[in-house]
Amino acid sequence: MVTKIKRANSSKPMSRNSFVFLARFSSGSRCSTSTLVWSLVVVLLMLHLYTLISHTDVQSKEIHRDMSHRILLRELEEVEEENIQMPPPRKRSPRAAKRKPRRPTTLIDEFLDESSQIRHVFFPTIKTAVDPMVDAGNDSFYYYPGRIWLDTEGNPIQAHGGGILYDEKSRTYYWYGEYKDGPTYHAHKKGAARVDVIGVGCYSSKDLWTWKNEGIVLAAEERNETHDLHKSNVLERPKVIYNDRTGKYVMWMHIDDANYTKASIGVAISDSPTGPFDYLYSKRPHGFESRDMTIFKDDDGVAYLVYSSEDNTELHIGPLDENYLDVTHVARRILVGQHREAPALFKHEGTYYMITSGCTGWAPNEALAHAAESIMGPWETMGNPCIGGNKVFRLTTFFAQSTFVLPLPGLPGLFIFMADRWNPADLRDSRYVWLPLTAGGAADQPLDYSFGFPLWSRVSIYWHKRWRLPGEWSGMKMKL
Ligand SMILES: *[C@@H]1O[C@H](CO)[C@@H](O)[C@H](O)[C@H]1NC(C)=O
Ligand SMILES: *[C@@H]1O[C@H](CO)[C@@H](O)[C@H](O)[C@H]1NC(C)=O
Ligand SMILES: *[C@@H]1O[C@H](CO)[C@@H](O)[C@H](O)[C@H]1NC(C)=O
Repeated sequence: MVTKIKRANSSKPMSRNSFVFLARFSSGSRCSTSTLVWSLVVVLLMLHLYTLISHTDVQSKEIHRDMSHRILLRELEEVEEENIQMPPPRKRSPRAAKRKPRRPTTLIDEFLDESSQIRHVFFPTIKTAVDPMVDAGNDSFYYYPGRIWLDTEGNPIQAHGGGILYDEKSRTYYWYGEYKDGPTYHAHKKGAARVDVIGVGCYSSKDLWTWKNEGIVLAAEERNETHDLHKSNVLERPKVIYNDRTGKYVMWMHIDDANYTKASIGVAISDSPTGPFDYLYSKRPHGFESRDMTIFKDDDGVAYLVYSSEDNTELHIGPLDENYLDVTHVARRILVGQHREAPALFKHEGTYYMITSGCTGWAPNEALAHAAESIMGPWETMGNPCIGGNKVFRLTTFFAQSTFVLPLPGLPGLFIFMADRWNPADLRDSRYVWLPLTAGGAADQPLDYSFGFPLWSRVSIYWHKRWRLPGEWSGMKMKL
């Protein structure tokens, strides 16, 4: 579609020029009708020829650009397999083996076992930490999913369940997330592993690799026990968007009590992306339970809240008011009965996409991609977008859970899939799994696949042990 519009535009100035030329020619000389007719024919032929050439030119430029783009993506779309050796079974006394025969352990068991001999595969030690401040030479700009990632001061980044805002004014990326640098404990026997609320951490970056700690931009309440942000409560999945009308940065988050019975959203605002944010209030949106959630700002400036509801059996979606401070009375139930959480929304070529996880607490599970023509639905489920690694990697979203999908300016069709590899034994040591997400299918597929099956562009998340963004993003000149 875009190609056609561009072609039509490019021929417009040409026809206007030739009109001027024709008018001068006919008024400036006295000539016979036949000369005039012949000139007209010649001019029309030239015009036709020019249009043909310019069409081919524009077309070939576009094909060239498209191919360069595809070449940049090809490396990221390479399927990378993982072959993880299971550790040898631990020695047990013959008596114990007789009493209770060992069931074979799986990779997921190993992941969940704090004392697993292959723990370092899932949670690499601090020795392998990614440190952008050390001149990494050829290793610069590489993401290593699962490794500890240090900020510019050399501390592990604390921005779990997070999301990224691109601030047009400062041309800077801001990464907000749960600051969890405290001890993990269980509030009671049946309670989930937790860390007391510390607040929302904020990090800034120009290159999406080097992150400066901007501090805690919304802090927990130490003393007031009735306050939503009291440290004994729960604050999860903070997301920030900018309101062009009011000039405010607006943060939405999941607010809960330690037993997850409050099931509410919370809202905070600030004049600056680095806070401090003023906490406004919490509520149950549309009167419904709300746990895992996200917000999404559409191209037309309308923002939406998406949240897991009705005991996490379904999601609800609805527009925010124009100040982004509350929901409106409009909402729809989507993915009803599918038990999805951790929604991450994005848009590509006018279609809306969402990645979600299943509901298994801190344990990882299979991601699903969904798509919709209209953001309010109907939403259709497309399937598991994960590619590479091995089967267990794909069935566990690479041992992680979705939190955000970040579009990359200048690279249409390429996104960063952001996920959390939770460590329930020590939540502060949960890791970030950032991977390339592409929408639109692989390079060898027909580009004009706009009808028939599959109806939607394919969404794929590619596993890589290490990877980096193409071109300018990793300090190289983009060759286009
Ligand atoms: C970095 O890459 C260049 C070019 O590929 C290579 O010649 C050089 O040995 C590499 N340096 C290191 C430290 O790996
Ligand atoms: C404690 O928090 C509640 C709820 O936000 C508020 O109404 C109350 O005024 C606060 N109390 C104090 C002493 O700040
Ligand atoms: C959470 O549940 C436990 C056990 O059911 C209970 O003892 C505790 O009082 C509850 N806490 C809150 C804040 O509701």
